[in-house]
Amino acid sequence: MKNYKIAVLPGDGIGKEVIEQTTKILDMVAQKHQFTLEYEYGLIGGIAIDECDTPLPQKTLDMCKASDAVLLGAVGGPKWDNLSGDKRPEAGLLAIRKGLGLYANLRPAVIWQALKDASPLKQSIIEKGVDILVIRELTGGIYFGKRGRVGEDSKAPDAAAYDTMYYSRYEVERIAEVAFEAARERKGHVTSVDKANVLENSRFWREIVLEVAKKYPDVKLDHMYVDNAAMQMVIKPEQFDVILTGNMFGDILSDEASMITGSIGMLPSASLGKDKFGLYEPVHGSAPDIAGMNKANPTAAILSAAMMLRYTLGEVEAADDIEVAVEKVLNSGLRTGDIAASGEKVIGCTEMGEAIAKKL
Ligand code: IPM
Ligand code: MG
Repeated sequence: MKNYKIAVLPGDGIGKEVIEQTTKILDMVAQKHQFTLEYEYGLIGGIAIDECDTPLPQKTLDMCKASDAVLLGAVGGPKWDNLSGDKRPEAGLLAIRKGLGLYANLRPAVIWQALKDASPLKQSIIEKGVDILVIRELTGGIYFGKRGRVGEDSKAPDAAAYDTMYYSRYEVERIAEVAFEAARERKGHVTSVDKANVLENSRFWREIVLEVAKKYPDVKLDHMYVDNAAMQMVIKPEQFDVILTGNMFGDILSDEASMITGSIGMLPSASLGKDKFGLYEPVHGSAPDIAGMNKANPTAAILSAAMMLRYTLGEVEAADDIEVAVEKVLNSGLRTGDIAASGEKVIGCTEMGEAIAKKL
């Protein structure tokens, strides 16, 4: 029987609750499809700061490197908000992405039929179909470029601060390839999003993307400025298939894409490197306001686990089973608070996990 080693990093806030439901679901499909999963738990984010004085302990990174895949909950919370930049829980997330070489972040945003009323957009816009895959470069750009302060006292009149948007040819090439490959498996359309009317970095990005595109004559490519893309996404979302973009634009546009679908509580993500290894996490954050109250929606984490089965472990049937079970639960009308219409009955995180387990 195949055995996979999974590093599980629940993190902070609702991370713990949603991961608990997720491992339960994973164990069920593993049993059905005859493989086993061995979980090793590690610390990241605020809880790691509390226990090890760093948001990403070396031990956690080593454990992840020795595993087949990583399943992550969420990091952050008000308790750690006053810490300086590199000591914050979020720094742990950035460090693990970088440390594991996970440069490609895949964030699919789809409308579930049962939830189409949850979208904040008009039905006349949604009904044309929303099925967007945001491919965000994850280990470069302004997130990782040179940054600093001029002068130590921010109150000084000549004080300043800077962050640099830096992309090397190699970094743009490899993320563009991921986007074109993904488009081939979908509708064959890549929209590369940049700010080439202003930024030199974006002009460079565009040149490289055009070059890579030559290898993919079967894929349609167009370019869009990020401000326009943000607008187009809410007036004509059906025009997008794969969105290829840099780290910061991808951060922003993936939140926008996710909200079009009605709930960020439904959206999974995969962060991949050059081989099959990957880190899987819900797009949502640690939601400190509802943490520990059994109110979170575990679906994004559960669907992230399905992505892990599909992309890293190659257990495609098990992944299909999870996605079908989620759809059935939604069709049966069960809702956590984030996806419930007003007046609809709301169930908790555990109940949602159990409902999905039951359908399996
Ligand atoms: C995300 C988050 C992170 C990011 C934060 C928490 C560092 O917003 O995964 O989208 O900006 O990448
Ligand atoms: Mg974000």
